[in-house]
Amino acid sequence: MDNINIGLLGCGVVGTGILRVLADKRDTLRKERGLSIDVRGIVVRDLDQPRDNIVDTAKLHTDWIQVCADDDIDVVIEVMGGTDSARDAVLYALRHGKSVVTANKELMAKYGEEIRRVAREYGQFVRFEASVLAGIPVVHTLETYFHISQIVRLRGIMNGTSNYILTRMHQEGLAFADALRAAQALGYAEANPDMDVDGIDAWCKLQILLDCIGVPQDARVGTEIGGIRSISQADIRTAQTQNCKIKHIVSAEWDVASGLVNWHVGPETLTLDDPLYAIDDVQNAICIDGDASGTITLSGPGAGALPTASAVLEDVLKIAQKLQVSLSV
Ligand code: NDP
Ligand code: HSE
Repeated sequence: MDNINIGLLGCGVVGTGILRVLADKRDTLRKERGLSIDVRGIVVRDLDQPRDNIVDTAKLHTDWIQVCADDDIDVVIEVMGGTDSARDAVLYALRHGKSVVTANKELMAKYGEEIRRVAREYGQFVRFEASVLAGIPVVHTLETYFHISQIVRLRGIMNGTSNYILTRMHQEGLAFADALRAAQALGYAEANPDMDVDGIDAWCKLQILLDCIGVPQDARVGTEIGGIRSISQADIRTAQTQNCKIKHIVSAEWDVASGLVNWHVGPETLTLDDPLYAIDDVQNAICIDGDASGTITLSGPGAGALPTASAVLEDVLKIAQKLQVSLSV
């Protein structure tokens, strides 16, 4: 039996989801993979907050250094969000011999290069599948596929909260503010929901995908990041009278001659024949156009506790496999 010990930084929507999925899958992982994944320490901001009963409160700390420096911990999972403590903690963990899994798109979009470099320097692994489109394995797809076809375009719905809000506005006539409150209650929105509704979260996800594809920073051309904050019921009704839907769309188009990638983030009015027209609620989708492959579309849950936890734990398994290989060489 192999054993992976986890330090969990954050125990909110996603952290609690991770504990729930781990509890559900513990026996299967032991039986089918001979792997035991144990959470040794859990870091939160406020020890007095009420917690789901899946949380072993004896493991709670407020000091991430204690968890990241613990010699018994192999992998640190960062699901605190933000970029201050999260960046410090992730770099500290890597420098103290821990591999890292994060769901934090803001962190990976802004500091991904530094984090990957430090991981290489210290011989550790960094994985971030859940940071882009939560439960949809798009990072895995870009890493393991598209070696023959050259990607010429990405286009997708990349924010679950925005798509959920627009769907409620379309289907139930909800006002923007009420639909946002509902998305927050379901655990879809960021701690600061401006990130979602102003398009920044979706832009961060696009930057991570462009990093995965190897597009240099200076080849990325775009100006304005648009959000859905100003969309009114009147706009929705106008779209509906034309059999259209307003969706928040992210796109990136490769200009083969110049090598530049032109990106756009903002609301668009989609007609019925658009492949993204039917992607509703918290679902996300991404269409990846390859020059030889044609268009490959991935869709699934773009936010939420369990899909995100599932993607985080897939990454833990990938690291476990690499650690086992390293140990046996
Ligand atoms: P929450 O706000 O629900 O949870 C954050 C957790 O981190 C809380 O337990 C909080 O402690 C803890 N925390 C925050 N800052 C600190 C700090 N400085 N020191 C110690 N603990 C801290 O966020 P989510 O779970 O929704 O999101 C976490 C991350 O996952 C974010 O990066 C988000 O973008 C990403 N993500 C979220 C998805 C979702 O559907 N929610 C989907 C995909 C990715 P306390 O509980 O005491 O407040
Ligand atoms: N707040 C994000 C969203 C979470 O709504 O898409 C998933 O990244």
